[in-house]
Amino acid sequence: MLACRGLMKRYETDRGSVDAIRGIDLDVGSGRYAALVGRSGSGKSSLLAMIGGLSRPTAGQVLIDGTDIWALSDSALAAFRSAQVGYVFQFASLLPSLNAIENVALPARLAGVRRQGDILDAAAGLLADVGLDNHFDALPSELSSGEQRRVAIARALMNAPKLLLADEPTSDLDERSEREIMALLLDLNRRRGTTLLLVTHSLALAAEAEPVFQMLDGTLAP
Ligand SMILES: Nc1ncnc2c1ncn2[C@@H]1O[C@H](COP(=O)(O)OP(=O)(O)O)[C@@H](O)[C@H]1O
Ligand SMILES: [Mg+2]
Repeated sequence: MLACRGLMKRYETDRGSVDAIRGIDLDVGSGRYAALVGRSGSGKSSLLAMIGGLSRPTAGQVLIDGTDIWALSDSALAAFRSAQVGYVFQFASLLPSLNAIENVALPARLAGVRRQGDILDAAAGLLADVGLDNHFDALPSELSSGEQRRVAIARALMNAPKLLLADEPTSDLDERSEREIMALLLDLNRRRGTTLLLVTHSLALAAEAEPVFQMLDGTLAP
C-alpha cells in the first residue's frame, strides 16, 4: 500500500544545507497500523510530509497503491492527496472562524463535492464517530485541545482516505486525552481498515504497532 524508495530530503538554509532524510526505504501493507518513532530532530516530520504529498523529496520515490505520487503534476497530486490521504498535524490546525462541522466538511468542499446536504450529513457522522455529537456548532476556541484534535481526525477522514498519517497527534495533550485519541485512531484503523502511520517519540505509544520504524538521524535503524 505504501512504499518509500531511496527517499532523501535536504533543506537549504542561510547557514548551509541540512540533510534531514538520508536514504530511506520502507513498506507498509494495506490496513496496517505502523509507527515511526525517534528523537526530536531525527527527521520524522520530514519523512511524513514527503509521504503525505506535502513536501517534495530531494530524491527518491513515494508509492501509494502503486502511484508514484511525486511524479504527478501539481494538480494531480493535490487531487490524489485529497482523495487518498488523511493528515493529522502535530499542532492545532483547525480554521478558527469555522465551527466543528464546517471544519470537518472542508476537505469535501475543496474536493468539489457539490451536495451540501450529503457533506454535512457525512461530517456530522464523523463528529459522532469521534465522540463529539454535542459540539457540531462549537468554534475551535470553544473546544479543549483533545476535542480540537478529534475534530482534526474527523476532518482527516472526511474523504474516506485509504492512508491516515498522524504526526505526534497527542504530544500536546494530557494523558487521558492521549489515551482517548490513541484508542480512537486504533479503532478507526481496525473498523475501517484505514492504513495508519503514526509518528511518535514514545515507544510506549507504538507498542501495538507492526511494523515499528526507528528513525535515527535521517535513516532507519535496522
Ligand atoms: N523547513 C526546514 N528548513 C530547514 N531545516 C529543517 C526544516 N524542517 C526540518 N528541518 C531540520 O531537519 C531535521 C529533521 O527535522 P524534523 O523532520 O522536524 O524531525 P522530527 O519530526 O523527528 O523532530 C532537523 O535537524 C530540523 O532542524
Ligand atoms: Mg516532528
